[in-house]
Amino acid sequence: MRAHDVKEILIEKSAIARRVDELVDDIAATAEPRNLIVIGILKGSFMFLADLMRSFHRHEVHPRIDFLTLSSYGADTVSSGTVNIIHDIREDIRGADILLVDDILDTGRTLALTKEIMLGRGARSVRTCVLLDKKAHRAVELEADHAGFVIDDHFVVGYGLDYDNLYRELPHIAKVSFHDDA
Ligand code: IMP
Ligand code: MG
Repeated sequence: MRAHDVKEILIEKSAIARRVDELVDDIAATAEPRNLIVIGILKGSFMFLADLMRSFHRHEVHPRIDFLTLSSYGADTVSSGTVNIIHDIREDIRGADILLVDDILDTGRTLALTKEIMLGRGARSVRTCVLLDKKAHRAVELEADHAGFVIDDHFVVGYGLDYDNLYRELPHIAKVSFHDDA
């Protein structure tokens, strides 16, 4: 792990909370509420997904929930280009309307592959929701149906996002500042 700090806050906790409610308002207006399965991509989505779910309560939408664990970056901050399923969902998704939830959209490979797998298993529709959209490194043609914040090309942590599995507990989004000369 390189020398770094996470002091600079990029998105405050209160701004995240407001945006989560707006996202859920949009999702509730477009999703098919009877048949909805929300699938969180672990580990990064756990905090975002929990807040999204609480916000669904305001719309009396009652989604099923499941989780998918994919391979991680480890101590790397650049995508390796391959995505593997480590732990699969358990729900039968045939005919279901899926909302895939991830922390951040970067190259797009994670969501593109997951979307393809879910459609291959017979989901009726697959929509995507991410807290953050980092457009700088997109490698596949994919835009999220619902995105919280578009951010510049920084490596960020907090609110579920990690650097080498650290800092997921931060209630805000912070920038990782690397000190190469330290
Ligand atoms: P993609 O497949 O390149 O779109 O990568 C998405 C995944 O990369 C996310 O689920 C994150 O786990 C990870 N990721 C991408 N950018 C960042 C970042 O700035 N901080 C932490 N994780 C990131
Ligand atoms: Mg992730």
